[in-house]
Amino acid sequence: MKTFPCIEDLRQQARRNVPKMFFDYAEAGSYAQETLRANRTDFERIKLRQRVLVDVSARDTSTTILGEKVPLPLALGPIGLGGMMHGDGEILACRAAQAAGIPYTLSTMSVCSIEDVAAAVDKPFWFQLYVMRDRGFMRELIERAVAAKCSALMLTVDLQVLGQRHCDMRNGLSVPPEIKLKNLIDIATKPAWALSILKGKRKTFGNLAGHVKGMEGITSLAQWTASQFDPTLNWKDLAWIKSHWPGKLLLKGILDIEDAKIAIKEGVTTLVVSNHGGRQLDGAPSSITALPRMVDAVGSRIEVMFDGGIRSGADLMRALALGARSCIVGRSYIYGLGAAGQAGVARAIEILGKELDVTMALCGVTSIKDIDRSVIAEI
Ligand SMILES: Cc1cc2nc3c(=O)[nH]c(=O)nc-3n(C[C@H](O)[C@H](O)[C@H](O)COP(=O)(O)O)c2cc1C
Repeated sequence: MKTFPCIEDLRQQARRNVPKMFFDYAEAGSYAQETLRANRTDFERIKLRQRVLVDVSARDTSTTILGEKVPLPLALGPIGLGGMMHGDGEILACRAAQAAGIPYTLSTMSVCSIEDVAAAVDKPFWFQLYVMRDRGFMRELIERAVAAKCSALMLTVDLQVLGQRHCDMRNGLSVPPEIKLKNLIDIATKPAWALSILKGKRKTFGNLAGHVKGMEGITSLAQWTASQFDPTLNWKDLAWIKSHWPGKLLLKGILDIEDAKIAIKEGVTTLVVSNHGGRQLDGAPSSITALPRMVDAVGSRIEVMFDGGIRSGADLMRALALGARSCIVGRSYIYGLGAAGQAGVARAIEILGKELDVTMALCGVTSIKDIDRSVIAEI
């Protein structure tokens, strides 16, 4: 495999490998993409303190996530259609995460099914749940995650209606993904991708096919989501989900302190500060702006995880400094998947880990527990 020094190089390679329709889908934010951009620009504004003449010879990036020891404060987040970045993409990403000893989250909207991934990997993974109108199917899906021995359920609460991503409309992204004639020329120039998809077990949403009505015809992603996702989802439904899911539960998509406070009252023990990678409410604050407010308000009562805009180990450092207990990445690892399959995901994790280690050294800290706001020079 080529040497990829940084996440941006993986991104460039993924752009060369993956057809435009699916690469655009991975890159996009909603509407004017203000929040997508803010997720990055607000990170770049945060400056770290360069400290010197501290013995940093023994450094340790390990910590715990949901009580489990991990070598890095990092988990791979749920990515719908991840398997369109590379054939069997979810299996490959999960294998890379498990080899690195960090959690992997399988999306409801994945290409490989829960059962496909469970059969192909050695250890438990997390499952992400979108709540759909058909509660019978929801119960079934949760039961399938229990049967597959998933070690945590991540309930995503910020996508009951879909924020429009203009490029998906322009490119005609549909459910199930349909390869249109106009995309064939593009695909013809991406033979390695086409072969990997052909060899992959599935070409559509593995968890839903055969279970959800309305998968027979081709419809736009927006229309399909509107018909399937349940916009009535509210706090009362949490008890119903908990009654079917006996294990650890995370709430993903909390950006407002009032919501975090309600979550605590409802017995939630872990939340993910997230704006869905800038793909939902455009005009919402960047995740990194919301993080310190959240930590100040509820951080001592709940495990706060963070995602949105992490592209380097320095970004991990910044999020930890502002109070995240650990972080989740989306695009950083799917760029790796598109660039070089499992090896690319492994490389993305390695890049983030090594950069975090060096950043810690140059900030004069040697362990994750010592990272706090004192490492920040200015915001
Ligand atoms: C292509 C793509 C698909 C995604 N699909 C899902 C999904 O199915 N479920 C979910 O909870 N979040 C989904 N997300 C959001 C990610 O889990 C995560 O919150 C986001 O990517 C973090 O921002 P980052 O990409 O800047 O790291 C998706 C993100 C992207 C980029």
